[in-house]
Amino acid sequence: MDTNIQEQILNLLKDKDELLSTEAANLLGEPHQKIVGVIKSLESFGKIIEVSQQSQKIWVCSEEGEKLAEDGSHEARLFHFISEEGVTVDKIKSDFPSSGVALGAALKNKWVRKEGNTILKNIDSIVDLVQANLIKIKSGDFLAVDDKIKSDYKKRKLIKENDVISFVIKKGSAFSTMVTKQEAELTKEMIESGDWKQKSFKPFNFKSKGKLELRSGHLHPLMQLRGEFRKIFLEMGFSEMPTNNYIESAFWNFDALFQPQQHPARDAQDTFYISDPEKTLSVPLDYLEKVKSVHSEGGFGSVGYRSPWSFEESQKNLLRTHTTAVSARLLYKLALDGFRPAKYFSIDKVYRNETLDATHLAEFHQVEGVIADRNLSMKHLMGVFSAFFKKIGIPSIRFKPTYNPYTEPSMEIYSFHEGLAKWVEIGNSGYFRPEMLRPMGLPEDVTVAGWGLSLERPAMIMFGINNIRELVGPRVKMELVLENPLCKIEKNV
Ligand code: PHE
Repeated sequence: MDTNIQEQILNLLKDKDELLSTEAANLLGEPHQKIVGVIKSLESFGKIIEVSQQSQKIWVCSEEGEKLAEDGSHEARLFHFISEEGVTVDKIKSDFPSSGVALGAALKNKWVRKEGNTILKNIDSIVDLVQANLIKIKSGDFLAVDDKIKSDYKKRKLIKENDVISFVIKKGSAFSTMVTKQEAELTKEMIESGDWKQKSFKPFNFKSKGKLELRSGHLHPLMQLRGEFRKIFLEMGFSEMPTNNYIESAFWNFDALFQPQQHPARDAQDTFYISDPEKTLSVPLDYLEKVKSVHSEGGFGSVGYRSPWSFEESQKNLLRTHTTAVSARLLYKLALDGFRPAKYFSIDKVYRNETLDATHLAEFHQVEGVIADRNLSMKHLMGVFSAFFKKIGIPSIRFKPTYNPYTEPSMEIYSFHEGLAKWVEIGNSGYFRPEMLRPMGLPEDVTVAGWGLSLERPAMIMFGINNIRELVGPRVKMELVLENPLCKIEKNV
């Protein structure tokens, strides 16, 4: 920065109450823009000056005015054009540009007179006041020119009025005409030598936009929210389940979960079946036998469904309809590896053969949590659910009994929707049935509870979207992706 101009400005201000940036530009003969830059840098020094903005009208030369400031007024040039013996009006009209204005003004000033058809000089020399005034205006010193004259020049389109933002500077509480260079960084050397005590430091500019906007990738709002949910689960000590298999067998999606083979959810109306490969090959056969027996004959205190159970049906491949299929795989593995208390979560896609509308998609994300421990009480679980929902911004929840083939008791989770002023269903939960857990080999005193919700529903609420198709698919607006804030969840705890 030009320290010389900085000091010149401070010296101008020394003897005044206030100084205008436009005034400083005139006095120092520097462009206004440059003065403004210097004032800004002085302002960042702390309390040396105080700056406020003001809109000001200034006079500037028009293109023609600028030309006349260089070459002289039309009338002065005409005066010099006229020789001792005079020039005819016809010749002036044919040879002299802007002859009408020039002749009118020269006659009015009594510089020339008309005799018959000839124009003759009245005096030997003239002072071109128009040029002198235009030079003043051009250099920014428009205050030195009388207002009447300015309005006359305005009519003649030699000058025009412009609005400029100028700055008013006043002395600050730490005013000085000497600017000490401010340090941008505290260095190891300054600390060692103790120099930092004498130094003045530049304040941090938290409003700086940085060098340029980075052209980088942006996360889709759903993925962003998934990241936030994931963090909450991790904070609560849950570990993530591997959900990278969208294709699942009916065995893990339904049978392992004690969902009867005649259940309507298994219908092609509700489930997308895969035609190629149609069947899964690898199912743990000894476990499959136990599942088959609990379905068809019962066991572990249950009478079962008492209907035939088909191996082929369980082999069918499908797009998983819930992430609980993955939970089943993990619980089976947990039993196989020797039970220890576990907390699992997953957030991934599931598929249902739904009719699409404003709130339903055929593919959506499920957020699922599973807790397995010995002697889990209902109270304990409700505490975990409440803590989780609090963390995702839902301060209070209620439970309502419901039916799931794989949980008992099963509870729908409701939250109070301020906008709708009523309790709305936000998730489903329950204790996995012994008919599901015991064939896996989990000990009798182990309780496993789970809950699930969609990722899209809270996303719609948080991003203020009423139609789910604006959140996924070709109707997603780029602005939604580019402009939405980094963090959507307002933490309540
Ligand atoms: N899978 C259930 C659903 O589709 C959610 C759930 C998970 C319910 C775990 C109970 C236990 O909604």
